[in-house]
Amino acid sequence: MKRLLSGIKPTGELTLGNYLGAIKQFVDMQKDYESFIFVANLHAITVYNDKEELLKRTRDLVAIYLACGLDAENTTIFLQSENNYHTNLGWVLECNAYVGELNRMTQFKDKSKNKSENAITCGLYTYPTLMAADIILYDADVVPVGIDQKQHVELTRNIAERFNKRYGQTFKIPEPIISEITQKIYDLQNPTKKMSKTEENPKGCITLLENPAAAAKKIMGAVTDSDNKIKYDPENKPGISNLITIYSALTNVPIKDVENKFKDSNYGTFKKAVAEVVSQFLTDLQAKYQEIINSGKVDEVLDKGIKKAREIAQAKVKEVYEKVGLSR
Ligand code: AMP
Ligand code: TRP
Repeated sequence: MKRLLSGIKPTGELTLGNYLGAIKQFVDMQKDYESFIFVANLHAITVYNDKEELLKRTRDLVAIYLACGLDAENTTIFLQSENNYHTNLGWVLECNAYVGELNRMTQFKDKSKNKSENAITCGLYTYPTLMAADIILYDADVVPVGIDQKQHVELTRNIAERFNKRYGQTFKIPEPIISEITQKIYDLQNPTKKMSKTEENPKGCITLLENPAAAAKKIMGAVTDSDNKIKYDPENKPGISNLITIYSALTNVPIKDVENKFKDSNYGTFKKAVAEVVSQFLTDLQAKYQEIINSGKVDEVLDKGIKKAREIAQAKVKEVYEKVGLSR
């Protein structure tokens, strides 16, 4: 069975974008792959995070993974910080990556824009090399992510290929898997921008643990256009296309069929239908989340997951250290 690996940072509130762009793919694909899904908490501290908040979000993320349908019987769920082999390999990869490559990472450029050099951590800069380690440590075949992470997976491929050339075949070269329609869910108020947990305008972003009625209101208030036709056309109708994407992904109805179903509806009727689907989705998810977070399930799953993750990672780091000359 091929291997799948992905992770999410426990920073900010998880959004509908995280669910549709990433978590839903993990859930849909888990039966066809040997899956490893982790909490990227080492990545969270590339920017300062309050300790208590980080701890809470870490547990929440695991509970949300489970509430969204990840099956801990078949999927290995673990905390990155509990497996030291990630940082061991991360360092070796950092020494096989170039400043020129990291300088080209658009996420780093965006996140450090308009900031003084004394406000940007070295971790934020080198984080893609740790992400590369996260992936190739497990010989992952596929890495489902949103489009914003594609460049990091491409960098991972380059570093892995370089290492294999220098030291002999060691790592699998991973493929990014990007869902065609949900690769980027847009801000409801500014539908050319990514829906993001750090977005300043909370009306544009739906978070997974927010009040479902409030979320429905945000859908009703989403920015659209004046054409009043339910048609998927991301270029000319970004707002409506974003709502069609959300409806289609949450109901598993293809976009063409959504267009057809609402071909005689106006925007008000369509928005109401989307709002209902979103609020129902959040209501169901939150009920499951509450049940999980109040049980001992999170620790149980993490205890089991870390054992398997460490076992695989230990063997890989041993091999790498031997090849590089870091053993006796
Ligand atoms: P992050 O929250 O940056 O750790 O992202 C976790 C995962 O969610 C990554 O695979 C992102 O690409 C994905 N993601 C985040 N926001 C969105 C969005 N608005 N649309 C689609 N995917 C997203
Ligand atoms: N960098 C990813 C993000 O910000 C999270 C992440 C860290 C990740 N390591 C990973 C995703 C490995 C996939 C595979 O969203």
